[in-house]
Amino acid sequence: MSRTLYKIQSSIILPVILFTSLPAQPQQIIRPGEVWPDNNGNHIQAHGGGIIKLNKTYYWYGEERSKGLDTQYRYVSCYSSKDLTKWTFRGHVVKMADPENLGRKWVLERPKVFYNKKTTRFVMYFHLDNGSYKVAKVGIAVSYQPDGPFTFVKSFRPLGHESRDIGQFIDDDGTAYLVFEDRPFGFRIARLSEDYMDVEKEMSLVKEHMEGGAIVHYNGLYYSIGSALTGWRANANKYATAPSLEGPWSELKDIAPPGTNTYGAQSTMLIKVVGKKSTTIIFMADIWKPATQWDSRYLWMPLEIGKGKLWVPEPKPWSLNIKTGEWKYVAADPKKQ
Ligand code: GAL
Repeated sequence: MSRTLYKIQSSIILPVILFTSLPAQPQQIIRPGEVWPDNNGNHIQAHGGGIIKLNKTYYWYGEERSKGLDTQYRYVSCYSSKDLTKWTFRGHVVKMADPENLGRKWVLERPKVFYNKKTTRFVMYFHLDNGSYKVAKVGIAVSYQPDGPFTFVKSFRPLGHESRDIGQFIDDDGTAYLVFEDRPFGFRIARLSEDYMDVEKEMSLVKEHMEGGAIVHYNGLYYSIGSALTGWRANANKYATAPSLEGPWSELKDIAPPGTNTYGAQSTMLIKVVGKKSTTIIFMADIWKPATQWDSRYLWMPLEIGKGKLWVPEPKPWSLNIKTGEWKYVAADPKKQ
């Protein structure tokens, strides 16, 4: 073969070989209810969690419930992601010993982190309690980095009320709110103070008992969701709508076929992904496994939402395009992450 012919042939053949032998790009899939591996291959430990977005990075904080942790401490884990699908473990951002003599079974649950632009501090709220859930307070811990370490500052009852499950909501104008379950009265929505170190103003009291409370602002309406009070057992989660955070709130309606008990999950947050083509609201929920908490799973599904209606479609593997904001079901599931 002449030298020139060889060159011509290889310049044609080589790219063809390279192209055909390249492994298929792994599909980035969210699989509701399945083990969700982080960058190290470990199941994500961010139960009862919350998510914030800073620039292009999402941070997911939640309860760390791995096996074999030192039982005198409570841990909060942090994960980061650019696409809400592949998550990098950023460490245990909280490793806290009982801060207030609450006893061996003390509780730190549902951590929610807010970033305060003015003070440049990350302010974490969490449910702080004793083993019988009688203390009913929020705790606050702060850090100057998203990945901690967070230092405990104080605990209190927001606006003097009992507070167990909490949720976070940041409105489109950047204002930060805490939602909390006040057992004697209902579900409260309250604005944080300017430095986020306090709960300052009540917006609404929804006279319904809702745990795992979450809110989203979508096309001019506020949607709040939550679960009934059945502990770790799943129940039929509900939603209400209002034209403003001050209400008036509509009656509660189902978010999924009630017989499925929200497909075995409990709400924890609503994430709004505003892309170039579409806006997707993700229902983020926990499938608790009380006897094997480390194996508790996540149920994330894009919502059908609009004009006062909200519905969680039947959970199936799906993928999200973070740039366009579009999502789709993944028909053939190649079991690769
Ligand atoms: C649930 C609550 C969880 C945890 C659990 C304890 O209702 O949402 O965060 O507190 O009860 O039984």
